[in-house]
Amino acid sequence: MKIIVTGAMGQLGHAVRKLSSGSDHTFVFTDMNESEGVSRLDITDSEAVKSMTDGADVIVNCAAYTDVNGAEANESVAMKVNAEAPGILAEAAREAGALLMHISTDYVFDGKGNVPYDEDAQPSPVNAYGRTKLEGEKAIAASGCRYMIFRTSWLYSDVGKNFYLTMNRLTAEKPEIKVVMDQTGTPTNAYDLAFLLCHIIENGMLDKTGIYNYSNDGVCSWYDFAREINYMLGHTCRVEPCMTDEFPTPAQRPQYSVLDKSKIKRTFGVDVPHWRESLQLLIDEHYN
Ligand SMILES: NC(=O)c1ccc[n+]([C@@H]2O[C@H](COP(=O)([O-])OP(=O)(O)OC[C@H]3O[C@@H](n4cnc5c(N)ncnc54)[C@H](OP(=O)(O)O)[C@@H]3O)[C@@H](O)[C@H]2O)c1
Repeated sequence: MKIIVTGAMGQLGHAVRKLSSGSDHTFVFTDMNESEGVSRLDITDSEAVKSMTDGADVIVNCAAYTDVNGAEANESVAMKVNAEAPGILAEAAREAGALLMHISTDYVFDGKGNVPYDEDAQPSPVNAYGRTKLEGEKAIAASGCRYMIFRTSWLYSDVGKNFYLTMNRLTAEKPEIKVVMDQTGTPTNAYDLAFLLCHIIENGMLDKTGIYNYSNDGVCSWYDFAREINYMLGHTCRVEPCMTDEFPTPAQRPQYSVLDKSKIKRTFGVDVPHWRESLQLLIDEHYN
């Protein structure tokens, strides 16, 4: 099969590149900027998308505008990448007869619940990023293509910009930091999500279309996550809890965004690792 991966230089795209390296399928990696092993593809350019995806069996869309605070001031730019471009990819997938595997977010939910969100829960985003990602889901669903949408949360990895790397640096540099304890969710090791995507492709489970939740298992606050990072790295920073009000950000965040993973476990027969175990594996450089 021919598999086109967009956003291959991002956290998730990087993990897909690593985990697919032994595959017998033909993976074509793309991103905004060309680099070694990665071709240039701007997913907002419909002609370029059509030509790149001609003859594809699967399109894995790891590209996105992921600056949650930046999206507040640049919603139209975020909308182009997170909503219009998935529509373009979906149209291209339909024309090519390919499956589109797209990544969405827990931020489509308002976070006012207190039990894990399943796939049928009503989306109601509280920030611009969430709105653009929800519009992306709708554009794909309206296109008539075969698709799988994976809603994930708190993605981190050993590359890119993410909470894990920020806490790694801050807990090494500072004697004390404060981290919010009133937002609850679940971290997701990008390699676990990449493993799931590769598992589906390698096992030919391409007919199981629909929307799926995927994060690691378990529940924590950003404060718990930061404490665990500090502890597992052997850093001696004092990590103190605080409330969201103490650190106002341009974008409002959902307070509770735990995802129910029953459907994905049942459908694809996968185990979902606990976030603590997955964090330990990343710190142990298990993926290198
Ligand atoms: N990060 C999270 O915490 C999180 C949480 C929930 C869901 N998600 C979703 O998970 C997916 C993967 O996220 P990630 O954290 O791996 O993202 P990421 O690290 O920000 O990577 C996204 C990649 O897409 C590229 N890109 C941006 N605009 C593009 C365009 N027009 N055409 C082609 N490529 C473009 C980026 O290039 P530049 O760097 O040059 O812009 C970057 O290489 C996204 O759909 C995201 O919305 C992420």
